[in-house]
Amino acid sequence: MIEHTSVLREEAVQALNPTYGKTYIDGTLGGGGHAKHLCNLLDATSTLIGIDQDPVALAQAQEKLANCPPTLKLVQGNFGNLLTLLLQVGLPKIDGGILLDLGVSDFQIKHPERGFSFLHAAPLDMRMDPNGPQTAADLVNTLPAKDLANLFYQYADEKLSRSIASAIVNARPIENTLALAKIAENIYRQKGIKAQKIHPATRIFQALRIAVNQELQMLESCLNQLPNILLPGAHVAIITFHSIEDRMVKQFFRVACAPCICPPQQPICTCQHQATFKAMGKPIVPTDQEVQDNPQSRSAKLRVYERI
Ligand SMILES: C[S@@+](CC[C@H](N)C(=O)[O-])C[C@H]1O[C@@H](n2cnc3c(N)ncnc32)[C@H](O)[C@@H]1O
Repeated sequence: MIEHTSVLREEAVQALNPTYGKTYIDGTLGGGGHAKHLCNLLDATSTLIGIDQDPVALAQAQEKLANCPPTLKLVQGNFGNLLTLLLQVGLPKIDGGILLDLGVSDFQIKHPERGFSFLHAAPLDMRMDPNGPQTAADLVNTLPAKDLANLFYQYADEKLSRSIASAIVNARPIENTLALAKIAENIYRQKGIKAQKIHPATRIFQALRIAVNQELQMLESCLNQLPNILLPGAHVAIITFHSIEDRMVKQFFRVACAPCICPPQQPICTCQHQATFKAMGKPIVPTDQEVQDNPQSRSAKLRVYERI
């Protein structure tokens, strides 16, 4: 079985301050690597709620977590609907903390039929939730060139977004991962851009995956629910893998941690804003050793906060 290598495993689990008797959420259960480590630091008076939108990941994690000491409540769904999922398991208030380890798992990438990888021929799917409303093929074959270009630029900083988008529109219908990757490769070659550190298709695959799974919208929705769900003392640990989601987390907590959000030139505070979180130190990044052992971890950043 393909195992996911957990990123910043020790750091993220310790950031949750595992405490007997408390309830924790792993909102991105994946292969259950972080969850297993967390469970090993908890006892039978504790509870772990494991969430993943991918039923295959959930089944894999269930096997891995069998016989763990805490009470386990596993639920399939999107952390963007966090409160609804917590109500399903009867635990709408959380005193321990929540972990989000964003993005896809090695397991998903290395199963070619899921369509996340441009290294294997497969249908252009990219849905983490197999019942999600749209596939990458739907976007690639229906969005106007301008919208596709914006998507590539905004979600992945693709400099050749316009040329790639118009080549895609000219090549429709595109149903296959390799066909799409070839288009990006050809555009790079035509523009005379020599081999880069990453494959020319990397960015457009990232952008499509983000759009297909509405990753930014779901993250924003989850963040907005946290102040009402977490009890004082509960911790939030979020691992991001690209600058757009990291910026979203940073900006959300900059406001959530601020005692006042009045414009700086205003002499007297009128905002009535109250800080709901405090930052727990600086962002944590993988050690050189971790990056060497698991190159996928190179762009990871862990941010930690405490509900006050
Ligand atoms: C990087 S993996 C997590 C790996 C896990 N921490 C481990 O150590 O094995 C991310 C997982 O989160 C899931 N996921 C991503 N976004 C999600 C969302 N919005 N709601 C629920 N699950 C999500 C993916 O399906 C994937 O299984």
